[in-house]
Amino acid sequence: ESSFKYRLVNPQNLSARRLPDVLLIGVKKSGTRALLEFVRVHPDVRAAGCEVHFFERHYTFGLNWYRKKMPPTVTGQLTMEKTPSYFVTSSVPSRVYKMNPKIKLLLVVRNPVTRAISDYTQSFSKNKDMKKFEELSFVNGSYELVDTSYGAIKIGVYAKYLERWLKWFPLKQLLIVSGERLISDPAAELYRVQDFLNLKRVITEKHFYFNSTKGFPCLLKSESRSTPHCLGKTKGRSHPKIDRKAIERLSEDKWTGRWFPTNPNEIQTVDST
Ligand code: A3P
Repeated sequence: ESSFKYRLVNPQNLSARRLPDVLLIGVKKSGTRALLEFVRVHPDVRAAGCEVHFFERHYTFGLNWYRKKMPPTVTGQLTMEKTPSYFVTSSVPSRVYKMNPKIKLLLVVRNPVTRAISDYTQSFSKNKDMKKFEELSFVNGSYELVDTSYGAIKIGVYAKYLERWLKWFPLKQLLIVSGERLISDPAAELYRVQDFLNLKRVITEKHFYFNSTKGFPCLLKSESRSTPHCLGKTKGRSHPKIDRKAIERLSEDKWTGRWFPTNPNEIQTVDST
């Protein structure tokens, strides 16, 4: 009886907003929204719905401001946030470390050429006057020299950014998720994520179905909705047709590094010079 009373007043069991235990740091256009929506199906994970942009944009507002952007949780639930620009912003790793050196980091990567085309497609949807992808990606109008200063290409040099993170965090605090497998076998990738976060394997094959109209896996039910649903229409856009020769050239190792060896967790060994 007395322990029951104690539980009622134990502040740890009260719902409160807490700083994140897990950050989904990027990479932009690799499937970060899909991963967030899939992980938060887990009853022991609660996530901020929008990108908070705390560590790069709103850092001066302080940790209390950040904490208030988080959803309420009870003891045992993980708090999570995703802002893909964290991965590529140089000031972010040390700031995250300062908040919580034990934080767990999730990173989704995908073939950097596909990622670049996806990034381009997003920009083009906002500005139809944009040059063609092939024009932006190469210097001097031939497929000789790749323009590595073009943002969509530059972000694909994952090793360069990863190096900064690994100056602050040991590899065991980071899980690299395959953006490709998140599409082809979401449950398998979600098992890896749940194991990494020490969560019970609650999210399984049963949560997903492949929607052939959308061309992507969708959720049968989630925290907020009990009916089947896919991600919004800004996720899974159709890409413009890109010259095959351009794709071949961009896919050469020297531009992006050997980005995705057999095991995505080996990516840190890639030489980014
Ligand atoms: P495209 O829209 O170019 O196809 P992010 O959420 O990081 O911006 O990534 C967007 C990409 O996630 C999409 O790029 C799409 O390919 C990919 N994706 C992965 N799983 C998806 C899913 N279940 N539904 C829709 N898009 C998904």
